[in-house]
Amino acid sequence: MKIDNIKKICVIGAGNMGHQIALCTALAGFQVRCTDISQDMLNKAEDFTRTYLPERVAKGKIPQAQADQALSNLSFTQNLEEAAGEADFVIEAAVEIMDIKRKLFADLDRIAPPHAILATNSSFIVSSKIADATKRPDKVCNMHFFNPALVMKLVEVVKGPHTSIETVQVTMDLCTKLGKNGVLLKKEIYGFLVNRILSALHHEALFLADMGIASPEEIDMAVTNALGHPMGPFRLMDFTGIDLSYYIGMERYRETGDPKDKPSPLVIEKFFKGEYGKKTKKGFYSYE
Ligand code: CAA
Repeated sequence: MKIDNIKKICVIGAGNMGHQIALCTALAGFQVRCTDISQDMLNKAEDFTRTYLPERVAKGKIPQAQADQALSNLSFTQNLEEAAGEADFVIEAAVEIMDIKRKLFADLDRIAPPHAILATNSSFIVSSKIADATKRPDKVCNMHFFNPALVMKLVEVVKGPHTSIETVQVTMDLCTKLGKNGVLLKKEIYGFLVNRILSALHHEALFLADMGIASPEEIDMAVTNALGHPMGPFRLMDFTGIDLSYYIGMERYRETGDPKDKPSPLVIEKFFKGEYGKKTKKGFYSYE
């Protein structure tokens, strides 16, 4: 298969990442169906699309015709069969829980056409942990976007030992079609490139806050002022979701059994208070 054979894309998940990946692919001219088990999330994704596109036109960032085309290219449905039944390429951006992903990939293998590539946007889980839930492991890979997906240019494409060269090539070509810079990881590694670097920073920032050395606000100020990052680590966790930090830590801890992989006390506290960051209007900062 070649990139020119990819016409229809299915995005699984309308959350933080999924709704923007769906819009990004629709803006690039693909016919896109975005699906989620939550009708509320689908409604929010559709509302975002209907607000975002006219704003981009008003700002002079995209022509009206492209916005109109993107709007007609993109549809939302709770029905997985409807979303993936005709897809040439599936991007899964569901919750970071291994069992859910494995079940989803088994369902997708049954539903999606045999030629379809099944990619996961997982931030940490390598596709070899999922590919064997399907009968097409050669067509399974990681395609990892960054938040906000409409803005951030990088996409990590990870080749698992099961992934064919053809799948990797089509996925890298898709990155180019989306206006992204794809970086190919030739071997699987937990956390890929960027999240390995980021988690070292976050681990240290959380340790300093847990120890009472400085507050999250002060640590963020130090990182933005001294290192020039656009956001400090706590603001960034609020933005990407403290629930995501929790799930990733727990998933890793389950795998390694190493206490240092457990989410930090501060993350656990926020998670159980339901303070996930921007999306719940409260995290390390308040967004009322
Ligand atoms: N959704 C879509 N577009 C957004 C946006 C959002 N949530 N927030 C900002 N933008 C767009 C704006 O529309 C604007 O676009 P134009 O310049 O084309 O008009 C542009 O981004 C800049 O926005 P602002 O001037 O309002 O704000 P800013 O300069 O502070 O930029 C930011 C906002 C791009 C988010 C910037 O703060 C930033 O780069 N933050 C760091 C983001 C980051 O590190 N992402 C990686 C997270 S880690 C991750 O994603 C890993 C994972 O596995 C989940």
